[in-house]
Amino acid sequence: MELTSRIALVTGAAHRVGKTIALALAHSGASVIVHYGRSADAARETAAEISALGVDAFPVQADLRDPAQIDALFQAVEDRFGHLDILVNSAASFVKQPFDDIDLDSWKDVLQSNLSAPFLCSQRAARLMRAVPRPAGQPALIINITDLSGLFPWPGYVQHGVSKGGLIQLTRISARELAPDIRVNAIAPGAILPPPGMSADSDQWQAIGQQVPLRRTGSPDFIGQTVIFLAANDFITGVVIPVDGGEHLLGSLK
Ligand SMILES: NC(=O)c1ccc[n+]([C@@H]2O[C@H](COP(=O)([O-])OP(=O)(O)OC[C@H]3O[C@@H](n4cnc5c(N)ncnc54)[C@H](OP(=O)(O)O)[C@@H]3O)[C@@H](O)[C@H]2O)c1
Repeated sequence: MELTSRIALVTGAAHRVGKTIALALAHSGASVIVHYGRSADAARETAAEISALGVDAFPVQADLRDPAQIDALFQAVEDRFGHLDILVNSAASFVKQPFDDIDLDSWKDVLQSNLSAPFLCSQRAARLMRAVPRPAGQPALIINITDLSGLFPWPGYVQHGVSKGGLIQLTRISARELAPDIRVNAIAPGAILPPPGMSADSDQWQAIGQQVPLRRTGSPDFIGQTVIFLAANDFITGVVIPVDGGEHLLGSLK
């Protein structure tokens, strides 16, 4: 897939899944804005790895819970490139909390990071994507990284599930709102990387893999490949692709 001269912004791209997406886009020739929240050193390393591939890359910090910082992020993109072709909303929190313990601050915190921020980023991205005339038949692209928790009611993941379910509906609605010059799709990863604190070698993570139809956990490369697939196919919009070893076939495993 040839993405040469395309400009891509990946949120939460300092490490883990976001970094793999950023590198996949760069390997295809795109210049990449590496957004990060707190992981400044990792973001600089990711940007350096991308630059070494011969494309432009630079890290930009923003706390996505703050709309003013989202504005500043997109201003930085505009100042550097003047427009945008691809946005991947990958940054998210992953909070598990008993239903009864959730206060309004915790609720808002998760919804701001996982749902309001992708909306505001999509809105600002759409303006930048339309800042220059687009080649015929080559819409810009927004990809939302959601979660199976947005499709199935996982106990304990109330705010997370609501935010990721909302992100799926945001994908469908914005696919209609932003057509025909911008496509919007979502990827719903399954067990791709263990959460921080759990080792990939742990019995717990291996057992999670054994529960899904393909009997294994995945890797971030599968998400990177799916991003490139979506970038290559200009006739797909409004879909949610599970990349999960078939976990979605089982309903809620949790
Ligand atoms: N890992 C999996 O197996 C899996 C499974 C299902 C879905 N997903 C989805 O795939 C995406 C990436 O997963 P991941 O495991 O790589 O994620 P992660 O490591 O948990 O988090 C990704 C990044 O999001 C950034 N972030 C979170 N809240 C932010 C905020 N308010 N402002 C700025 N940055 C913020 C953080 O950046 P900094 O470190 O720079 O602060 C963090 O490194 C997420 O949307 C996740 O829900 C992952």
